[in-house]
Amino acid sequence: MSDMSLNEPGTRRRHGSNIGQPLTRREGMLKVTGAATFAADNHPPGMLYAVVATSTIARGEVVFLDEAAARAHPGVVEVMTPANRPPLASDPDEKSNPFMFRMDLLQNTGVRYPGQPVALVVAETLEAATEGAALLAPRYVAEPARTGLDSAPTFSPGVVGAGKPAFAETGNLDSELAASAHRLKETYETPAQYHNAMEPHGVVASWNGDTLSLDMPTQALAMAQHRIAGLFGIAPGDIHIKSPFLGGGFGSKGFPAGPQILGILAARALGRPVKLVLRREQMFGPVGHRAPTRQTISLGISEDGALRAIGNHTRTASSTFDDFLEPAADVAHTLYASPAIRTSYEAVRLDTGTPLFMRAPGEATGSVTLESAIDEAAWAVRMDPLAFRLKNHADVEPISGKPFSSKSLRECYRLGAERFGWEGRPIEPRLRRDEAGLLVGSGVGTATFPALMFQANARATIHRDGTGLVEIGAHDMGQGAWTALAQIAADALGLGIDEVEFRSGTSDLPDAGIAGGSAHTATAGMALHAAGGNVIAKLAEIATADERSPLFGAGNVGTVAIEGRLLRRDDESRGESFVEILHRAGLDLVTAEGKGASDPAAQEAYAMHAHGAVFAEVKVDPDLGQIRVSRLVGAFAAGRVINPRLVESQLLGGMVWGVSFALHEQAMTDRRSGRILNADLAEYHIPVNADVPSMEALMVHEDDPHVNALGIKGVGEIGITGTAGAIANAIWHATGKRIRRFPIGLADLLD
Ligand code: MOS
Repeated sequence: MSDMSLNEPGTRRRHGSNIGQPLTRREGMLKVTGAATFAADNHPPGMLYAVVATSTIARGEVVFLDEAAARAHPGVVEVMTPANRPPLASDPDEKSNPFMFRMDLLQNTGVRYPGQPVALVVAETLEAATEGAALLAPRYVAEPARTGLDSAPTFSPGVVGAGKPAFAETGNLDSELAASAHRLKETYETPAQYHNAMEPHGVVASWNGDTLSLDMPTQALAMAQHRIAGLFGIAPGDIHIKSPFLGGGFGSKGFPAGPQILGILAARALGRPVKLVLRREQMFGPVGHRAPTRQTISLGISEDGALRAIGNHTRTASSTFDDFLEPAADVAHTLYASPAIRTSYEAVRLDTGTPLFMRAPGEATGSVTLESAIDEAAWAVRMDPLAFRLKNHADVEPISGKPFSSKSLRECYRLGAERFGWEGRPIEPRLRRDEAGLLVGSGVGTATFPALMFQANARATIHRDGTGLVEIGAHDMGQGAWTALAQIAADALGLGIDEVEFRSGTSDLPDAGIAGGSAHTATAGMALHAAGGNVIAKLAEIATADERSPLFGAGNVGTVAIEGRLLRRDDESRGESFVEILHRAGLDLVTAEGKGASDPAAQEAYAMHAHGAVFAEVKVDPDLGQIRVSRLVGAFAAGRVINPRLVESQLLGGMVWGVSFALHEQAMTDRRSGRILNADLAEYHIPVNADVPSMEALMVHEDDPHVNALGIKGVGEIGITGTAGAIANAIWHATGKRIRRFPIGLADLLD
């Protein structure tokens, strides 16, 4: 695995279309045998261990650290504090673009959230570093913690999420509400959640002069390179990051986090490699989270069940020192047709680590609430909730009036409902029980996620022996990128997947942008598609200009690459192999680059989103309030399916996140100290196998000619949307109780 190439011997050779094949993960064997190395598995010779000491207060100042005690501990090599921290080339609080995360790098003695690094202890062993950090026993001057959405004055933000306006309106919400036969105005709350990827954030850092080698999980290799380069005053190209496998990211590995930078700083100061890995509880602070929201949703509904107004005013929180705001209201822009839509925000600043993109940021928080409200509206006019959604189907994107590049939501509703057995469901709640006497309810939610593309570059090469090589600094968080991207590359080169060496996961390869926004397959895939197309075009140029080639003169009719051969497009019986072309030209290889990016004209003309419908059945104990999701069926349309096995896995994973959102996940904050009370995976609940029911994710065929040449949308995050709302709606249907605060627990259902 030295070069991260993923050509496993023994995989069956496939010809023709690699795209669409349900291949298993190409690195699967490496993972199940433990041969795959994650960042923390690296142990360069002479390596030291670093452990961060973190604040136990939410706000104030560190006035004393028992540095002497820590230094006296056997094995401790260095204690880094604000008093002796070596200088950095830039201020960690500086921010030159919105895609930066302010960091706590011991720049002063201030404390601005619980769990903030206040010192770093480096030792010969992990145990000594851990003990040294404990011996620091900080003393503080503490100020009262501001926690919760009511503990600070509100302000009106200009932008939310990745820079979208915090106010948007189409039509006139107030007049449409006033003219509506039915009005609904309810407030819903979603909690703070922490990403909690299985693999904690970590780094193994080695310096050689001004050259830096890092083993570090990241969703954005080149962005990490640039951020670290700025802090250390070195060239991005002198930073070599290896990130072949990630144990999940969920958004929190989009930006390097403060503790990782401290590990790199220690390695430089001490002239030895340093490993730093966060403990689980240390991930509840400096590595981002999803902020809590309080969303007031207003709906106006006409007598016949048509929506006339959709409003969402969201209050959310950021940290006291940075600006990320969960864009919860914005999903109202696209979900349902309505002559008036208005979204607006207010925010508070809390003594918390800065929130960040997390698992469908905005879409998850905003669809669980809007889907609940839509269900309430359907009940207000006594309509079946699926019929209500169909009646209010958005044929064009409501906020912009643009046509959708493709939208197969009706088919998702139809297929999902049929598979689930929706027909015959009574609209009244609390009517059905199972044989054990449990209340049974069912609910539906609409899933949606934008089809985004960022920017990526790739390189493709055909060697003299006819095999291919593709290189791209892409990221596999567990989603199966190494397999899906190799499938795209193989098709672009006209080769079988085993004839293509796939190199990825390091910053020395062409910049593939960020694995985020569910956009990596589309963006990196299009870069590979373009690079492959360009290298084939070069081969074609060589062959069609050569009198000795059977392709001579075919430049105008064009050629096509199939099974390692270049053929005349108008007569596929005439052609020759890549090997023959290169041999005759006396070339060892031919290589080309390619780019993946969205097409601005298509973006301007069309609204681009993936869609889906999720159906949930729950069973609730009428005496104890215990809730079980008993069935989940999702049907999704997200453009072209590159690998149905991996796509299904992504969709199911997203639906499990939805179960988690509806019933499990929340960070609980102690109001006095501001600390997270459940900063561990015993008390921060996520679904375990027993919580996850029989689930199905169906894929609806969808051709989208506009999103990109391959028709790829994205499937990484859509599964959480729709699912959480469907479960909340099923709980109402089972019990007659509408719970507007998440996660829903048994206490909410007791009278
Ligand atoms: Mo995702 S929250 O864009 O990694």
